[in-house]
Amino acid sequence: MFSEGNVLNRTTALPRLAWAGIAFVGTLLPISSFADDQDVRDYRSHIMKTMGEQFAALNQISKGKAPAADVATQAEVLRITAGVAKVAFTPKVLGGEAKPEVWDKWDDFSKRLDELVAAATDVSKAAKQGGVAAVTPKLSSLSCKGCHDVYRVQKK
Ligand code: HEC
Repeated sequence: MFSEGNVLNRTTALPRLAWAGIAFVGTLLPISSFADDQDVRDYRSHIMKTMGEQFAALNQISKGKAPAADVATQAEVLRITAGVAKVAFTPKVLGGEAKPEVWDKWDDFSKRLDELVAAATDVSKAAKQGGVAAVTPKLSSLSCKGCHDVYRVQKK
């Protein structure tokens, strides 16, 4: 009979829904709640190293030393990577090559990251539309060094 079946389903489905809810909330917690300080430093280091590799690949391509056909892919990966940098720097965890100024002047630092994302988006668009010739003059707009001069510990 229909009504009996429905009651049974409801009593078993409810606890299952509750567990699903708890699991879902778990995925929304900020990374800092289950990553220790070294994890936070390592993660932002991975992101920056990826950007370093993408930037190096684009420079190679713009000098004709790597396949021009890859330019749009490399630029798009750089754009995506730049987009996750801000979250990685948000927890105030000193160390690595990050100067304390990153968090002391967070407004300026995060604004620079937003500008990086905008510049990388522009480079990626240029790569798709105009290829290497359109990308080469824009590479300096990524201002990697401008930020490093202020916020990254210079290696001796
Ligand atoms: C808004 C500021 C900012 C911008 C823009 C920026 N960086 Fe960085 N970068 C940093 C900081 C701060 C560190 C040090 C992070 C740390 O060690 O925790 C860093 C570190 C690095 C590292 C060293 C990573 C390691 O652990 O060895 C590389 C490589 C790098 N950046 C590449 C780039 C490239 C390439 C660009 C441009 C496409 C760029 N960065 C743009 C702030 C910036």
